[in-house]
Amino acid sequence: MATQKLPQLSILVLHGPNLNLLGHREPDTYGYLTLNQIELLLFEEAQRLQVEIFCLQSNHEGVLIDTIHQAIDKYQGIVINPGAYTHTSVGIRDAIAGVKIPTVEVHLSNIYRRESFRHHSYIAPVAIGQIGGFGANSYLLGLRAIVEYLRTQ
Ligand code: DQA
Repeated sequence: MATQKLPQLSILVLHGPNLNLLGHREPDTYGYLTLNQIELLLFEEAQRLQVEIFCLQSNHEGVLIDTIHQAIDKYQGIVINPGAYTHTSVGIRDAIAGVKIPTVEVHLSNIYRRESFRHHSYIAPVAIGQIGGFGANSYLLGLRAIVEYLRTQ
């Protein structure tokens, strides 16, 4: 039987501020899974997709920006939940635009069904697409979306 070797893809998964509190934080909105549990699901999905992932959470805008810069020549795609920085950060938006690494924006909640200040995303115009409203599954769908995008380019 012939086997096909897929080129190795490395994907950076970034979590923004307050996402370290998942499981404890507003569970009616964000669910009961901790970030650790979500990352375990992501690692399982990555294995299924035969890609490598690296996950990082930070409450600091500059750390997220530095990590995006360091992704050049290291990662072929980014999945990011920018948390509250979605609605405020021109810096993260410019970093994603600057590195030119295909990026998928994900949210646990459907930001368009929530307060009006969450309806605007600075990230969306520089992302390939946005997935939200599916809880932890938004991350898995986001990972699948970036991998399929990269494999069909
Ligand atoms: C969030 C939505 C944001 O509005 C909020 O500030 C978050 C989480 C989400 O995953 O639904 O921290 O990005």
